[in-house]
Amino acid sequence: MPIAHSAPLSGHRYSAIELVEDRDACLMLDQRELPVQERYHRYETVDEIAEAIRAMVIRGAPAIGIAAAYGLALAARSPRGRSDFAGEIARASTLLAATRPTAVNLFWAIARVGKQCALWADLSHAERSERVADEALEIHREDVRACRAMGALGAAWMPDDGVVLTHCNAGALATGGYGTALGVIRAAIAQGKRVRVLADETRPYLQGARLTAWELRHDDIPVEVITDSMAAHFFQRGEIRAVVVGSDRVAANGDVANKIGTYGVACLAHMHRCPLVVAAPWSTVDLQCANGEQIPIEERASREVTHLGDAQLVPYGVRARHPGFDVTPARLVTALVTERGIASPVTAQSVGALAG
Ligand code: MRU
Repeated sequence: MPIAHSAPLSGHRYSAIELVEDRDACLMLDQRELPVQERYHRYETVDEIAEAIRAMVIRGAPAIGIAAAYGLALAARSPRGRSDFAGEIARASTLLAATRPTAVNLFWAIARVGKQCALWADLSHAERSERVADEALEIHREDVRACRAMGALGAAWMPDDGVVLTHCNAGALATGGYGTALGVIRAAIAQGKRVRVLADETRPYLQGARLTAWELRHDDIPVEVITDSMAAHFFQRGEIRAVVVGSDRVAANGDVANKIGTYGVACLAHMHRCPLVVAAPWSTVDLQCANGEQIPIEERASREVTHLGDAQLVPYGVRARHPGFDVTPARLVTALVTERGIASPVTAQSVGALAG
């Protein structure tokens, strides 16, 4: 990696995103090119960051939030930010908020930085810019700490020896580092548990096949990829001991939005009496959403289903449906693991108790 810091905040040899030491740019690992290429791009403006989020150079709810915070830091120090700080923060916030609708971490990070900016009205431009960058770095550091805390708590739900299924990528690549669901698996293995991972390929964007398999292989964690349609077979044979996934938004009643296909996995886990653990930092919990029906679901391009790269899979002229996420009802979630503690059973009361 063209290292941004001597010690990347991700804590890994690779990072989804890092602010460079001079604070005038971000480096992002282009996740569209994994696992074939490990290529970093340098982004110097908030407009570039917004486009990178929209185009899925970076993805995963916490990582999107961190990218937005760094985008605001770049907006703050830009020429426009120098001449009209508040106006540029507002423009940048609107731009970033329009990139992806489901991951609430995006809106959480924008609101957090915006609230702080309002408190710094009397400071010089240079001081305000530094403070926005400080805040963005803190959001990144907090996310890594939250992932490690979730790992320590969630590892108890992992088997001492056995196969764990995961869907999409909720790992270091989707967060500031370490990962939510994959953080739970990393922590379980660090505790000596012999966990082997089945990674759903996660049609159509293949985050499981491309990204989860890539980062687990990096850590020498045993991983095998299956097509999404094979999961039922492995549940039926009793091979899956637990499921662990991340989330893009958790509603106040504990309903969980995550990558399309998660609900199907949850139904299977329920039918086969297998625990389904959701690991998500508190920044993913949206108490303003009473339940899953209120969570906006991103509609992605039909072409991501009809094509695999440039190869056409579906007859010309036939369109495809492509909701990017689905909602798993709280009653199908065995435990919601956050850095604040665990809600289990998952109910409005147990989630509300973590809100403090
Ligand atoms: O469309 P993506 O790749 O951004 O979707 C990511 C997911 O659904 C992850 O499971 C979720 O963000 C949790 S990441 C810790």
